[in-house]
Amino acid sequence: MTAAPDALTLRRYGRDDLDNVRPTLTDLYAEVYADRLSDPFFSVERFQERLDGHVSRPGWEAVVGWDGDQAVGYAYGSPLPERARWWAGMLTPLPEELTHETGQRTLALFELLVRAPWRKTGSAHRIHEELLTSRPEERVTLLVEPTHPKVKALYERWGYDNVGDQQPFPDAPVYTTMLRQLG
Ligand SMILES: CC(C)(COP(=O)(O)OP(=O)(O)OC[C@H]1O[C@@H](n2cnc3c(N)ncnc32)[C@H](O)[C@@H]1OP(=O)(O)O)[C@@H](O)C(=O)NCCC(=O)NCCS
Repeated sequence: MTAAPDALTLRRYGRDDLDNVRPTLTDLYAEVYADRLSDPFFSVERFQERLDGHVSRPGWEAVVGWDGDQAVGYAYGSPLPERARWWAGMLTPLPEELTHETGQRTLALFELLVRAPWRKTGSAHRIHEELLTSRPEERVTLLVEPTHPKVKALYERWGYDNVGDQQPFPDAPVYTTMLRQLG
């Protein structure tokens, strides 16, 4: 059931496509996070709430990788608004020039996941780069759990730098915040 990444079809989805793509996003989330769904923060209900919040922001976009009619993984994000809560949750103080948002400056990558059979095939990287291609923002930011150093190392290989820790919600883990320039 594994696939070469060049066999993937990459499709983009905007907020008008949400009803169509929501079941795919949700099913893959539930599969990939199956062992954490009993933690309230990682439950499917909270995923759906976060998704609704992210989609409500202008500029939300997802890329799903398809192997035939099977969805193998996806990435999605939206631009940070002015005075973004993203930076307000930093546990590490950052200079104002780094956290200043205009609504067009920074893409927040909220989810990236690939189903287990398609890991280590390059599919995750292709999906990720497809989302970033043709985005108008200057930079992209994401969160990674510090207890997952191999994922953090992967993002460093993809061009991200660690800019400090944050806790986005009181019941969320403390995350490492990463930032990469675009264009
Ligand atoms: C992150 C992801 C998209 C990367 O896919 P990929 O480019 O094919 O890379 P891999 O799956 O080989 O992951 C790279 C390394 O991180 C490890 N890793 C991946 N996800 C992990 C997780 N959730 N927890 C702990 N380690 C993880 C892998 O085991 C691998 O280490 P290894 O080389 O020693 O086996 C994919 O691993 C995934 O979907 N993971 C689960 C969801 C997730 O953690 N998303 C990232 C949120 S920031």
